[in-house]
Amino acid sequence: MCYAIPGKIIEIKGDIAVVDYFGEHRNALNKFLKAKIGEYVYAQGGILIDKLPESEAVEILKIWQDKFFELKKTDRRLAKTTTTDSTVYSHPLLELMQKVNLNKELTKNELLTLLKAKNRDELNLIYTTANNIRQKEHDNACCVHGIIEFSNYCRNNCLYCGIRKEADLNKVERYRMTEEEIFNAAKYAVKELGFKALVFQSGEDEWFSEEKLIKLIKEISKLNILIFISIGLRPKETYKKLYDAGAKAVLLRFETSNKRLFEKLRPNTSFDERIQLIKELKQIGYIVATGFLIGLPDETDDDIINNILLTKELKADMYSFGPFIPSENTLLLHHKVVDKNIVLKAIAISRFVDRDSNILVTTALETLDKDARTQGLLAGANSLMINLTPTKFKKKYMIYKRRYDAQKPIKEEITETINMLYSLGRAPMDINYED
Ligand code: 5AD
Ligand code: SF4
Repeated sequence: MCYAIPGKIIEIKGDIAVVDYFGEHRNALNKFLKAKIGEYVYAQGGILIDKLPESEAVEILKIWQDKFFELKKTDRRLAKTTTTDSTVYSHPLLELMQKVNLNKELTKNELLTLLKAKNRDELNLIYTTANNIRQKEHDNACCVHGIIEFSNYCRNNCLYCGIRKEADLNKVERYRMTEEEIFNAAKYAVKELGFKALVFQSGEDEWFSEEKLIKLIKEISKLNILIFISIGLRPKETYKKLYDAGAKAVLLRFETSNKRLFEKLRPNTSFDERIQLIKELKQIGYIVATGFLIGLPDETDDDIINNILLTKELKADMYSFGPFIPSENTLLLHHKVVDKNIVLKAIAISRFVDRDSNILVTTALETLDKDARTQGLLAGANSLMINLTPTKFKKKYMIYKRRYDAQKPIKEEITETINMLYSLGRAPMDINYED
Protein backbone atom coordinates (compact mmCIF):
# COMPACT_ATOMS: atom_id res chain seq x y z
CA MET A 1 0.00 0.00 0.00
CA CYS A 2 1.18 3.50 -0.66
CA TYR A 3 0.11 6.88 0.68
CA ALA A 4 1.65 9.04 -2.01
CA ILE A 5 1.66 8.87 -5.77
CA PRO A 6 5.04 9.36 -7.43
CA GLY A 7 5.39 12.09 -10.04
CA LYS A 8 7.93 13.04 -12.68
CA ILE A 9 9.86 16.31 -12.64
CA ILE A 10 9.19 18.21 -15.83
CA GLU A 11 10.64 21.60 -14.99
CA ILE A 12 12.93 23.25 -12.44
CA LYS A 13 12.49 26.90 -11.48
CA GLY A 14 15.15 27.77 -8.92
CA ASP A 15 14.30 25.87 -5.75
CA ILE A 16 10.95 24.78 -7.15
CA ALA A 17 10.35 21.65 -9.18
CA VAL A 18 7.22 21.20 -11.28
CA VAL A 19 5.97 17.66 -10.82
CA ASP A 20 3.68 15.91 -13.27
CA TYR A 21 1.01 13.51 -12.00
CA PHE A 22 -0.86 12.03 -14.95
CA GLY A 23 -0.84 15.39 -16.74
CA GLU A 24 -1.59 17.42 -13.63
CA HIS A 25 1.18 19.75 -12.45
CA ARG A 26 2.14 20.68 -8.91
CA ASN A 27 4.96 22.71 -7.48
CA ALA A 28 7.27 21.23 -4.86
CA LEU A 29 10.30 22.53 -3.00
CA ASN A 30 13.47 20.94 -4.38
CA LYS A 31 15.85 22.67 -1.95
CA PHE A 32 16.66 19.54 0.03
CA LEU A 33 16.36 16.66 -2.45
CA LYS A 34 17.92 18.48 -5.41
CA ALA A 35 16.30 16.23 -7.98
CA LYS A 36 16.70 16.76 -11.72
CA ILE A 37 14.33 17.03 -14.66
CA GLY A 38 13.12 13.60 -15.72
CA GLU A 39 13.54 12.03 -12.27
CA TYR A 40 10.65 10.38 -10.42
CA VAL A 41 9.96 11.69 -6.95
CA TYR A 42 7.65 11.69 -3.96
CA ALA A 43 6.49 14.97 -2.45
CA GLN A 44 4.85 15.61 0.92
CA GLY A 45 3.52 18.89 2.23
CA GLY A 46 4.87 20.61 -0.89
CA ILE A 47 8.42 19.35 -0.32
CA LEU A 48 10.26 16.77 -2.41
CA ILE A 49 11.29 14.04 -0.01
CA ASP A 50 12.49 11.06 -2.01
CA LYS A 51 13.49 9.85 -5.46
CA LEU A 52 12.64 6.47 -6.87
CA PRO A 53 13.96 4.56 -9.86
CA GLU A 54 12.03 5.00 -13.10
CA SER A 55 11.22 1.28 -13.36
CA GLU A 56 9.64 1.30 -9.88
CA ALA A 57 7.73 4.53 -10.53
CA VAL A 58 6.35 3.21 -13.82
CA GLU A 59 5.11 0.05 -12.08
CA ILE A 60 3.36 2.08 -9.36
CA LEU A 61 1.88 4.52 -11.85
CA LYS A 62 0.52 1.63 -13.93
CA ILE A 63 -1.45 0.47 -10.89
CA TRP A 64 -2.71 4.00 -10.27
CA GLN A 65 -3.53 4.98 -13.87
CA ASP A 66 -7.21 3.98 -14.04
CA LYS A 67 -7.90 4.45 -10.35
CA PHE A 68 -6.56 8.02 -10.50
CA PHE A 69 -9.15 9.21 -13.01
CA GLU A 70 -11.95 7.15 -11.51
CA LEU A 71 -11.35 8.74 -8.08
CA LYS A 72 -11.40 12.22 -9.58
CA LYS A 73 -14.78 11.53 -11.14
CA THR A 74 -16.22 10.35 -7.82
CA ASP A 75 -14.84 13.41 -6.03
CA ARG A 76 -16.24 15.82 -8.62
CA ARG A 77 -19.66 14.21 -8.36
CA LEU A 78 -19.70 14.47 -4.57
CA ALA A 79 -18.41 18.05 -4.61
CA LYS A 80 -21.08 19.37 -6.94
CA THR A 81 -23.20 21.96 -5.24
CA THR A 82 -26.85 21.14 -5.32
CA THR A 83 -29.14 23.66 -6.96
CA THR A 84 -30.40 25.77 -4.15
CA ASP A 85 -34.10 26.23 -3.81
CA SER A 86 -34.59 29.61 -2.21
CA THR A 87 -37.83 28.50 -0.61
CA VAL A 88 -35.92 25.89 1.40
CA TYR A 89 -33.12 28.07 2.70
CA SER A 90 -33.31 31.34 4.48
CA HIS A 91 -32.26 34.19 2.19
CA PRO A 92 -29.42 35.56 4.31
CA LEU A 93 -27.62 32.21 4.09
CA LEU A 94 -28.04 31.97 0.33
CA GLU A 95 -26.62 35.44 0.00
CA LEU A 96 -23.66 34.49 2.15
CA MET A 97 -22.94 31.41 0.06
CA GLN A 98 -23.13 33.55 -3.05
CA LYS A 99 -20.58 35.89 -1.54
CA VAL A 100 -18.35 32.93 -0.74
CA ASN A 101 -18.67 31.64 -4.29
CA LEU A 102 -17.71 35.04 -5.64
CA ASN A 103 -14.62 34.91 -3.45
CA LYS A 104 -15.69 37.92 -1.39
CA GLU A 105 -14.52 38.21 2.18
CA LEU A 106 -17.17 37.59 4.84
CA THR A 107 -17.41 39.89 7.82
CA LYS A 108 -17.03 38.52 11.31
CA ASN A 109 -20.75 38.85 11.89
CA GLU A 110 -21.45 36.88 8.74
CA LEU A 111 -19.06 34.16 9.89
CA LEU A 112 -20.93 34.08 13.20
CA THR A 113 -24.21 33.66 11.32
CA LEU A 114 -22.75 30.61 9.59
CA LEU A 115 -21.55 29.19 12.88
CA LYS A 116 -25.05 29.58 14.33
CA ALA A 117 -26.82 27.83 11.41
CA LYS A 118 -28.88 24.93 12.76
CA ASN A 119 -31.40 23.86 10.17
CA ARG A 120 -30.37 20.61 8.42
CA ASP A 121 -30.75 22.08 4.92
CA GLU A 122 -28.72 25.11 5.86
CA LEU A 123 -25.96 22.92 7.27
CA ASN A 124 -25.92 20.85 4.09
CA LEU A 125 -25.66 23.98 2.00
CA ILE A 126 -22.69 25.21 4.05
CA TYR A 127 -20.91 21.84 3.88
CA THR A 128 -21.43 21.31 0.15
CA THR A 129 -20.28 24.82 -0.66
CA ALA A 130 -17.12 24.25 1.39
CA ASN A 131 -16.53 20.86 -0.23
CA ASN A 132 -16.95 22.44 -3.63
CA ILE A 133 -14.28 25.04 -2.87
CA ARG A 134 -11.98 22.34 -1.51
CA GLN A 135 -12.39 20.42 -4.78
CA LYS A 136 -11.65 23.51 -6.87
CA GLU A 137 -8.56 24.37 -4.82
CA HIS A 138 -7.03 20.93 -4.25
CA ASP A 139 -8.85 18.66 -6.64
CA ASN A 140 -9.08 15.22 -5.00
CA ALA A 141 -5.65 15.38 -3.33
CA CYS A 142 -5.68 14.21 0.24
CA CYS A 143 -2.66 14.11 2.54
CA VAL A 144 -2.49 11.02 4.70
CA HIS A 145 0.00 11.30 7.54
CA GLY A 146 0.84 8.80 10.23
CA ILE A 147 1.34 9.73 13.87
CA ILE A 148 3.55 8.02 16.44
CA GLU A 149 3.02 9.05 20.06
CA PHE A 150 6.40 8.36 21.60
CA SER A 151 6.06 9.59 25.20
CA ASN A 152 3.13 10.45 27.46
CA TYR A 153 5.22 12.27 30.07
CA CYS A 154 4.42 15.95 30.30
CA ARG A 155 5.68 18.76 32.52
CA ASN A 156 2.47 20.75 32.03
CA ASN A 157 -0.88 20.66 33.71
CA CYS A 158 -3.40 21.67 31.08
CA LEU A 159 -6.75 21.33 32.79
CA TYR A 160 -8.33 19.58 29.80
CA CYS A 161 -5.67 16.95 29.17
CA GLY A 162 -5.73 13.33 30.39
CA ILE A 163 -1.93 13.03 30.48
CA ARG A 164 -1.32 16.27 32.40
CA LYS A 165 1.49 16.06 34.91
CA GLU A 166 -0.75 15.77 37.94
CA ALA A 167 -3.19 13.30 36.40
CA ASP A 168 -4.03 10.47 38.74
CA LEU A 169 -0.86 8.42 39.02
CA ASN A 170 -2.82 5.22 39.40
CA LYS A 171 -4.65 5.73 36.18
CA VAL A 172 -2.04 7.12 33.80
CA GLU A 173 0.66 4.62 33.12
CA ARG A 174 3.58 6.67 31.83
CA TYR A 175 5.77 5.41 29.01
CA ARG A 176 8.64 6.53 26.89
CA MET A 177 9.46 4.63 23.77
CA THR A 178 13.18 3.98 23.44
CA GLU A 179 15.01 5.54 20.52
CA GLU A 180 15.14 2.11 18.96
CA GLU A 181 11.40 1.56 19.43
CA ILE A 182 10.63 4.93 17.86
CA PHE A 183 12.91 4.29 14.92
CA ASN A 184 11.50 0.79 14.41
CA ALA A 185 7.92 2.08 14.52
CA ALA A 186 8.86 4.71 11.92
CA LYS A 187 10.66 2.17 9.75
CA TYR A 188 7.64 -0.15 9.88
CA ALA A 189 5.32 2.73 8.93
CA VAL A 190 7.49 3.61 5.95
CA LYS A 191 8.73 0.27 4.68
CA GLU A 192 5.74 -1.95 5.51
CA LEU A 193 2.83 0.43 5.44
CA GLY A 194 3.98 2.91 2.78
CA PHE A 195 3.77 6.19 4.73
CA LYS A 196 5.75 9.18 3.44
CA ALA A 197 5.00 11.64 6.24
CA LEU A 198 5.06 10.94 9.96
CA VAL A 199 4.25 13.03 13.01
CA PHE A 200 6.26 12.30 16.15
CA GLN A 201 4.27 13.46 19.14
CA SER A 202 4.84 13.55 22.89
CA GLY A 203 3.90 15.54 25.95
CA GLU A 204 6.41 18.23 26.90
CA ASP A 205 8.94 15.64 28.00
CA GLU A 206 12.31 17.11 28.86
CA TRP A 207 13.86 13.65 29.15
CA PHE A 208 14.04 13.92 25.39
CA SER A 209 16.79 16.49 25.44
CA GLU A 210 17.76 18.57 22.44
CA GLU A 211 20.68 16.24 21.91
CA LYS A 212 18.53 13.09 22.00
CA LEU A 213 15.99 14.62 19.62
CA ILE A 214 18.66 15.66 17.13
CA LYS A 215 20.11 12.15 17.13
CA LEU A 216 16.67 10.63 16.68
CA ILE A 217 15.69 12.96 13.85
CA LYS A 218 18.95 12.37 12.03
CA GLU A 219 18.32 8.64 12.23
CA ILE A 220 14.71 8.94 11.04
CA SER A 221 15.80 11.26 8.20
CA LYS A 222 17.45 8.26 6.60
CA LEU A 223 13.94 7.01 5.79
CA ASN A 224 13.44 9.97 3.40
CA ILE A 225 10.09 11.08 4.71
CA LEU A 226 8.52 14.35 5.80
CA ILE A 227 9.22 14.51 9.54
CA PHE A 228 6.68 16.39 11.63
CA ILE A 229 7.45 17.03 15.28
CA SER A 230 4.83 17.73 17.92
CA ILE A 231 6.73 18.18 21.18
CA GLY A 232 5.39 21.44 22.59
CA LEU A 233 7.32 24.44 23.80
CA ARG A 234 11.09 24.35 23.21
CA PRO A 235 13.53 27.19 22.64
CA LYS A 236 13.60 28.60 19.15
CA GLU A 237 17.28 27.59 18.92
CA THR A 238 16.36 23.97 19.61
CA TYR A 239 13.72 24.03 16.89
CA LYS A 240 16.29 25.47 14.49
CA LYS A 241 18.71 22.63 15.25
CA LEU A 242 15.92 20.06 14.82
CA TYR A 243 15.10 21.64 11.46
CA ASP A 244 18.72 21.35 10.40
CA ALA A 245 18.73 17.74 11.61
CA GLY A 246 15.87 16.92 9.22
CA ALA A 247 12.52 17.80 10.80
CA LYS A 248 10.70 20.02 8.32
CA ALA A 249 7.23 20.31 9.84
CA VAL A 250 5.82 21.11 13.27
CA LEU A 251 2.44 20.54 14.82
CA LEU A 252 1.87 23.08 17.59
CA ARG A 253 -1.62 24.30 18.37
CA PHE A 254 -2.23 27.62 20.06
CA GLU A 255 -5.24 25.83 21.64
CA THR A 256 -7.42 28.94 21.98
CA SER A 257 -7.17 32.52 20.76
CA ASN A 258 -8.73 33.69 24.01
CA LYS A 259 -5.72 34.66 26.09
CA ARG A 260 -7.65 34.68 29.36
CA LEU A 261 -9.02 31.19 28.71
CA PHE A 262 -5.59 29.97 27.59
CA GLU A 263 -3.94 31.09 30.77
CA LYS A 264 -6.73 29.69 32.93
CA LEU A 265 -6.69 26.28 31.24
CA ARG A 266 -2.92 26.05 30.82
CA PRO A 267 -1.51 27.09 34.21
CA ASN A 268 1.99 28.56 34.19
CA THR A 269 2.19 28.81 30.44
CA SER A 270 2.04 31.96 28.37
CA PHE A 271 -0.22 32.62 25.42
CA ASP A 272 2.10 35.28 23.99
CA GLU A 273 5.11 33.00 24.21
CA ARG A 274 3.28 30.25 22.32
CA ILE A 275 2.12 32.57 19.54
CA GLN A 276 5.62 34.01 19.29
CA LEU A 277 7.07 30.50 18.92
CA ILE A 278 4.58 29.60 16.17
CA LYS A 279 5.69 32.72 14.27
CA GLU A 280 9.35 31.82 14.78
CA LEU A 281 8.76 28.30 13.51
CA LYS A 282 7.43 29.79 10.28
CA GLN A 283 10.52 32.00 10.06
CA ILE A 284 12.82 29.00 10.47
CA GLY A 285 11.12 27.50 7.45
CA TYR A 286 8.97 24.82 9.05
CA ILE A 287 5.68 23.69 7.56
CA VAL A 288 3.44 24.69 10.46
CA ALA A 289 0.28 22.92 11.48
CA THR A 290 -1.59 24.80 14.15
CA GLY A 291 -5.07 25.26 15.50
CA PHE A 292 -7.27 24.95 18.52
CA LEU A 293 -9.73 23.00 20.60
CA ILE A 294 -13.47 23.50 20.17
CA GLY A 295 -15.87 23.33 23.08
CA LEU A 296 -13.59 24.34 25.94
CA PRO A 297 -15.38 25.52 29.10
CA ASP A 298 -16.58 29.14 28.83
CA GLU A 299 -15.73 29.33 25.16
CA THR A 300 -18.02 31.53 23.06
CA ASP A 301 -18.95 31.49 19.37
CA ASP A 302 -16.85 34.62 19.05
CA ASP A 303 -13.84 32.68 20.34
CA ILE A 304 -14.35 29.98 17.71
CA ILE A 305 -14.40 32.51 14.88
CA ASN A 306 -11.35 34.26 16.38
CA ASN A 307 -9.60 30.87 16.53
CA ILE A 308 -10.15 30.36 12.81
CA LEU A 309 -9.02 33.90 12.00
CA LEU A 310 -5.91 33.54 14.15
CA THR A 311 -4.98 30.29 12.39
CA LYS A 312 -5.20 32.18 9.12
CA GLU A 313 -3.27 35.16 10.48
CA LEU A 314 -0.47 32.84 11.60
CA LYS A 315 -0.28 31.60 8.00
CA ALA A 316 -0.82 28.00 9.07
CA ASP A 317 0.22 25.54 6.38
CA MET A 318 -2.23 23.15 7.93
CA TYR A 319 -5.28 23.75 10.11
CA SER A 320 -5.42 21.27 12.97
CA PHE A 321 -8.38 21.60 15.27
CA GLY A 322 -10.80 19.27 16.91
CA PRO A 323 -13.38 18.94 19.65
CA PHE A 324 -12.40 19.05 23.29
CA ILE A 325 -13.29 15.62 24.63
CA PRO A 326 -13.79 15.74 28.42
CA SER A 327 -11.14 13.47 29.75
CA GLU A 328 -10.82 11.08 32.66
CA ASN A 329 -8.19 12.12 35.17
CA THR A 330 -9.29 15.73 34.84
CA LEU A 331 -11.79 17.86 36.71
CA LEU A 332 -13.48 18.63 33.40
CA LEU A 333 -14.65 15.02 32.93
CA HIS A 334 -18.31 15.96 33.28
CA HIS A 335 -18.20 19.01 31.04
CA LYS A 336 -20.64 18.79 28.13
CA VAL A 337 -19.34 17.47 24.82
CA VAL A 338 -19.47 19.87 21.91
CA ASP A 339 -21.97 19.23 19.11
CA LYS A 340 -20.30 17.58 16.13
CA ASN A 341 -21.87 20.10 13.76
CA ILE A 342 -20.00 22.97 15.43
CA VAL A 343 -16.73 21.27 14.46
CA LEU A 344 -17.99 20.57 10.93
CA LYS A 345 -19.09 24.20 10.59
CA ALA A 346 -15.65 25.33 11.81
CA ILE A 347 -14.09 23.20 9.04
CA ALA A 348 -16.37 24.76 6.42
CA ILE A 349 -15.79 28.29 7.72
CA SER A 350 -12.01 27.72 7.69
CA ARG A 351 -12.34 26.71 4.05
CA PHE A 352 -14.32 29.89 3.31
CA VAL A 353 -11.85 32.25 4.98
CA ASP A 354 -8.71 30.51 3.71
CA ARG A 355 -9.73 28.85 0.47
CA ASP A 356 -6.55 27.01 -0.44
CA SER A 357 -5.67 25.95 3.11
CA ASN A 358 -5.01 22.40 4.17
CA ILE A 359 -7.50 21.33 6.77
CA LEU A 360 -6.99 18.24 8.83
CA VAL A 361 -9.70 15.98 10.18
CA THR A 362 -8.48 14.97 13.61
CA THR A 363 -8.97 11.68 15.39
CA ALA A 364 -10.75 13.57 18.18
CA LEU A 365 -13.53 14.40 15.72
CA GLU A 366 -13.87 10.71 14.95
CA THR A 367 -14.32 10.14 18.67
CA LEU A 368 -17.61 12.07 18.55
CA ASP A 369 -19.14 9.65 16.08
CA LYS A 370 -17.81 7.09 13.66
CA ASP A 371 -18.95 8.96 10.54
CA ALA A 372 -17.63 12.33 11.65
CA ARG A 373 -14.31 11.87 9.85
CA THR A 374 -16.07 11.27 6.52
CA GLN A 375 -18.37 14.19 7.21
CA GLY A 376 -15.35 16.41 7.94
CA LEU A 377 -13.84 15.52 4.57
CA LEU A 378 -17.17 16.39 2.95
CA ALA A 379 -17.34 19.72 4.79
CA GLY A 380 -14.10 21.12 3.41
CA ALA A 381 -11.24 19.13 4.96
CA ASN A 382 -8.55 17.61 2.77
CA SER A 383 -6.17 15.82 5.05
CA LEU A 384 -6.08 13.20 7.77
CA MET A 385 -3.87 11.34 10.18
CA ILE A 386 -3.74 7.70 11.08
CA ASN A 387 -2.46 6.65 14.47
CA LEU A 388 0.50 4.32 14.04
CA THR A 389 1.64 4.20 17.66
CA PRO A 390 2.42 0.58 18.58
CA THR A 391 -0.70 -0.83 20.27
CA LYS A 392 0.86 -1.36 23.70
CA PHE A 393 1.69 2.36 23.92
CA LYS A 394 -1.34 3.73 22.07
CA LYS A 395 -3.73 2.75 24.84
CA LYS A 396 -1.62 4.68 27.35
CA TYR A 397 -1.61 7.92 25.35
CA MET A 398 -4.93 8.93 26.84
CA ILE A 399 -5.08 12.66 26.19
CA TYR A 400 -8.79 11.96 26.01
CA LYS A 401 -10.85 8.82 26.08
CA ARG A 402 -10.83 7.37 22.61
CA ARG A 403 -14.03 5.94 21.34
CA TYR A 404 -12.53 3.55 18.88
CA ASP A 405 -10.91 0.33 19.90
CA ALA A 406 -7.32 1.18 20.79
CA GLN A 407 -6.53 -2.49 20.26
CA LYS A 408 -7.59 -2.52 16.63
CA PRO A 409 -4.67 -3.73 14.47
CA ILE A 410 -3.02 -0.87 12.61
CA LYS A 411 -3.35 -2.59 9.24
CA GLU A 412 -7.11 -2.99 9.71
CA GLU A 413 -7.45 0.66 10.62
CA ILE A 414 -5.45 1.73 7.56
CA THR A 415 -7.49 -0.43 5.19
CA GLU A 416 -10.72 1.03 6.59
CA THR A 417 -9.43 4.58 6.23
CA ILE A 418 -8.10 4.13 2.72
CA ASN A 419 -11.37 2.49 1.62
CA MET A 420 -13.26 5.41 3.11
CA LEU A 421 -11.03 7.86 1.19
CA TYR A 422 -11.56 5.96 -2.06
CA SER A 423 -15.31 5.94 -1.52
CA LEU A 424 -15.08 9.75 -1.42
CA GLY A 425 -12.88 9.82 -4.52
CA ARG A 426 -9.82 11.12 -2.69
CA ALA A 427 -6.29 10.18 -3.75
CA PRO A 428 -3.17 10.43 -1.58
CA MET A 429 -1.52 13.05 -3.76
CA ASP A 430 0.63 15.94 -2.68
CA ILE A 431 -0.47 19.53 -2.33
CA ASN A 432 1.07 22.53 -4.06
CA TYR A 433 4.08 24.22 -2.52
CA GLU A 434 3.19 27.68 -1.22
CA ASP A 435 5.91 30.11 -0.34
N1 5AD B 1 -9.70 16.57 24.00
C1 5AD B 1 -9.26 16.77 22.74
N2 5AD B 1 -8.01 17.16 22.45
C2 5AD B 1 -7.17 17.35 23.48
N3 5AD B 1 -5.89 17.76 23.52
C3 5AD B 1 -5.48 17.79 24.81
N4 5AD B 1 -6.49 17.42 25.61
C4 5AD B 1 -7.55 17.15 24.81
C5 5AD B 1 -8.88 16.73 25.06
N5 5AD B 1 -9.32 16.48 26.29
C6 5AD B 1 -5.13 18.15 22.32
C7 5AD B 1 -4.47 19.52 22.45
C8 5AD B 1 -3.02 19.26 22.13
C9 5AD B 1 -3.07 17.96 21.41
C10 5AD B 1 -1.79 17.19 21.46
O1 5AD B 1 -4.08 17.25 22.07
O2 5AD B 1 -5.04 20.40 21.50
O3 5AD B 1 -2.44 20.27 21.33
FE1 SF4 C 1 0.99 18.34 28.15
FE2 SF4 C 1 -0.01 18.86 25.76
FE3 SF4 C 1 -1.47 17.59 27.61
FE4 SF4 C 1 -0.90 20.18 27.93
S1 SF4 C 1 -2.16 19.27 26.26
S2 SF4 C 1 -0.76 18.59 29.50
S3 SF4 C 1 1.14 20.30 27.07
S4 SF4 C 1 0.37 16.83 26.62
